[in-house]
Amino acid sequence: MRLTKALAEELLLEAWQNPMNRPWITHCRSVGKTAGVIAEAIGEDADFTEALGMVHDIGKKDTKEVVFHDLLGYEYLTKLGYDEASAAVCLTHSYLNNDDTCVAGGYLPENKFRTDFIRNHHYTECEKIINLCDLMCKDIQMTFEERMIDLITRKGVHPNSAYHLMEAVKLKNYFDSKVPGGIYSLFPDLHLMNGAIRIF
Ligand SMILES: [Fe+2]
Repeated sequence: MRLTKALAEELLLEAWQNPMNRPWITHCRSVGKTAGVIAEAIGEDADFTEALGMVHDIGKKDTKEVVFHDLLGYEYLTKLGYDEASAAVCLTHSYLNNDDTCVAGGYLPENKFRTDFIRNHHYTECEKIINLCDLMCKDIQMTFEERMIDLITRKGVHPNSAYHLMEAVKLKNYFDSKVPGGIYSLFPDLHLMNGAIRIF
């Protein structure tokens, strides 16, 4: 079964019943909206890409244990009958450059399934958009630069932080090159803070 925005909405509404899920749901909605706009601009399936953004952190459902949320989300959607194209985003969204060590916040505990999956997966354009939008959204949409500062200040600097930052910049440049005027031209309200960095 392929995910749609309507199906993603059902999953989020069900999860919303538990108040502990609300922060990640709010973040996922922000990622989904941002991703849909970018997908539309570059000729990808906007509905599907928004749906991927809406569920990418669903592995955080009903748990505070987030280290394995990527694996849990993939398992959850797969068990519900969603196809690989719909469920893979749960695993791919945190990792850049087909590398499970290219992640914000330091190395994760080793997991062979995750390592093999990320190394061998062909990232679709839709999945790459979610990688980028996860780096442009907290509970609200922000600039990539603000979000990178947010991640470093909250998660700290780790041995892989420079590597992750460089790959993140490459990813942003990749999508900037696909949109005339760059991706920020799609979000005219992004600079309402007149360049001030929001740390909160
Ligand atoms: Fe996320």
